[in-house]
Amino acid sequence: MMRRLKARLLALATFAALLTGCGGDDTAHPMSTLAPRSDLASWCYGLFMEVTAWDLLILSIVVVAFILAVFFFSTRVGEAGPPTSVSSDLKLEIAWTLGPALILLFISIPTVRLIFRTQPHDSIANELPITVVAHQWWWEFHYDDGSGAITANELHIPADRPIHLKLVSNDVIHSFWVPRLGGKRDVVPGQVNEIHLIASIPGEYYGQCAEFCGDSHANMRFRIFVDAPDAFALWEKAQTAPGAMPAEETPAARGAQVFANSPCTTCHTISGVSKGYVGPDLTHLASRTTIASGVLANDPEHLTEWIEHPDELKPGARMPDFGLRGAQLNDLVAYLESLK
Ligand code: CUA
Repeated sequence: MMRRLKARLLALATFAALLTGCGGDDTAHPMSTLAPRSDLASWCYGLFMEVTAWDLLILSIVVVAFILAVFFFSTRVGEAGPPTSVSSDLKLEIAWTLGPALILLFISIPTVRLIFRTQPHDSIANELPITVVAHQWWWEFHYDDGSGAITANELHIPADRPIHLKLVSNDVIHSFWVPRLGGKRDVVPGQVNEIHLIASIPGEYYGQCAEFCGDSHANMRFRIFVDAPDAFALWEKAQTAPGAMPAEETPAARGAQVFANSPCTTCHTISGVSKGYVGPDLTHLASRTTIASGVLANDPEHLTEWIEHPDELKPGARMPDFGLRGAQLNDLVAYLESLK
């Protein structure tokens, strides 16, 4: 009995040690809710710790009661129990009804308060409005501050400025989740859900669709780059410029022709060149660190592979292989990688 108890206590201690390891430094745990970097994520973290403290209190009461019952107030098999005339104890019954009810109240009050706090009714001064469109299986971001900037899968936001995300879906239910900045909030067709947050520390934060949405749900990743305000202003300005025109007689210039004559134009926009809207806007593709919704690094090798075998790299991807190969493909990749 004691050996089993010891084994369980050891398992509990190991679990606690693992749990404390979930927070900590930035690079080791890039998707931990235990290392919040925005007001929204910090509030949720605070509530989590508060509820966990109540849970620990309940756990210790149960463990103490269990130990007392097993080792001190128990009788052996075949041994007669102590005589008692009491069939019920009113005070005790009131206590164990009221106790849990109070604990539930202590948990629900801060929870409900936080739900209202994260959904402000009045607009916030200096807020940056951004529409987030979820697609199978990628993310589109429209800056609604009048700049007209559009990007995909990599959202840039300024630090220390209120951000207002309006979440809409183009097809099925998705869920927007950046563990260290906040979420997770469902993105539902025909409905606008909202997230308000202020990110505090510049850096790169990983996001992931958190609602099963089909073949490549797990490949529906994204990143949020929290920039210093000046760096953000520069980035946003660059994003509103038309697509770069490659110098004549270069592979990129030949690639621009390949693009213009390809079916790619039906689905992708390159400002000044094409007006497709099914896939991500490619006007500034080369300014992004990843392609295919955060699945592959954005470099010529991966982009080549992606254009050749989209369905292998991302099952169910809407982009077909158009059979572009050889010099044509190399030129196209050179052009796309020139779109800073
Ligand atoms: Cu979108 Cu899962």
